[in-house]
Amino acid sequence: MSLNEFQSEWMPRFDDYLYSELDACVPAQENLHKAMAYSLMGGGKRIRPLLVLATLSLADGEITDGFAAAAALEYIHTYSLIHDDLPAMDNDDYRRGRLTLHKVFGESTAILAGDALLTAAFEILAESTAISADKKIKLIGLLAKASGPNGMIAGQMDDVEGEKKALTIEELKQVHEKKTGALIRYAVTAGCLVAEADEPFTTEMEEFSRHLGLAYQIHNDLKDVVLDEAETGKTIHHDAALNKNTYPSLLGVSGAIQELNSVIGQAEGCLDRVALSYSGAEDKIDVFRQLMDYVRI
Ligand code: IPE
Ligand code: IPE
Ligand code: MG
Ligand code: MG
Repeated sequence: MSLNEFQSEWMPRFDDYLYSELDACVPAQENLHKAMAYSLMGGGKRIRPLLVLATLSLADGEITDGFAAAAALEYIHTYSLIHDDLPAMDNDDYRRGRLTLHKVFGESTAILAGDALLTAAFEILAESTAISADKKIKLIGLLAKASGPNGMIAGQMDDVEGEKKALTIEELKQVHEKKTGALIRYAVTAGCLVAEADEPFTTEMEEFSRHLGLAYQIHNDLKDVVLDEAETGKTIHHDAALNKNTYPSLLGVSGAIQELNSVIGQAEGCLDRVALSYSGAEDKIDVFRQLMDYVRI
């Protein structure tokens, strides 16, 4: 199955679920609902939920069983971007080709909409009826770990503190693994957990997600340098203005592209091994192979 086919079949259904969960959390007439919806339905690529669902499919699980974990993850991702764009953080006026949430709704509403998405994520998981209590507890714990002070928040903290000092490439890799990699890893782990995938499969797919997560952030940083604003939907050359440590700032553009290609190669190696080891995986793995196009430059 192609990535396109998978997306057409599953993502509209997933989006309906994502939005219905918002209605269940907050009354639709409230400003908070409007602010959360502005960012949730604001043109994100939905890579993380797609990864949850595609992993479930690859592991022969029931795809709808992954909706709660995928929605919770997208809520956390969305909150992370709202807070990341705030004046006290990256101070970005544009994202996905339109004004950032705080520019439209004001800073206090943006902070609260982010807080609301963060807490609603755990509400969605806790109240899901599709999966067992045992799986829910594991998914909640893993999501807290991936998004909290040992995961994404730790990476964001390092990223902000890094504005005042030059990191080594190894240190920067660790920042990226937490800042961006942790949520991408969670997507794959959650898919494996819900599908009750065996351990070798889970280990190989988690290894894949580690490479994908790093590639994702290197690609994001390269876009800031080599693409224009129409292509990125945000202010470009912003990382340099904030004195951010990035692969292009430490290695130059061609060095960063070389490193990106090497990480993509490692991710593809994992996919090759999964395709070889599991009969029936070859067809479904195309979704993942084509997903790698998102991080090519
Ligand atoms: C942007 O993530 C921020 C990073 C962690 C690299 P995405 O590029 O997945 O954001 P959207 O949701 O598709 O806009
Ligand atoms: C965003 O990182 C990562 C998180 C919000 C966790 P960046 O600040 O590098 O991403 P963009 O450039 O704003 O999308
Ligand atoms: Mg940032
Ligand atoms: Mg940013």
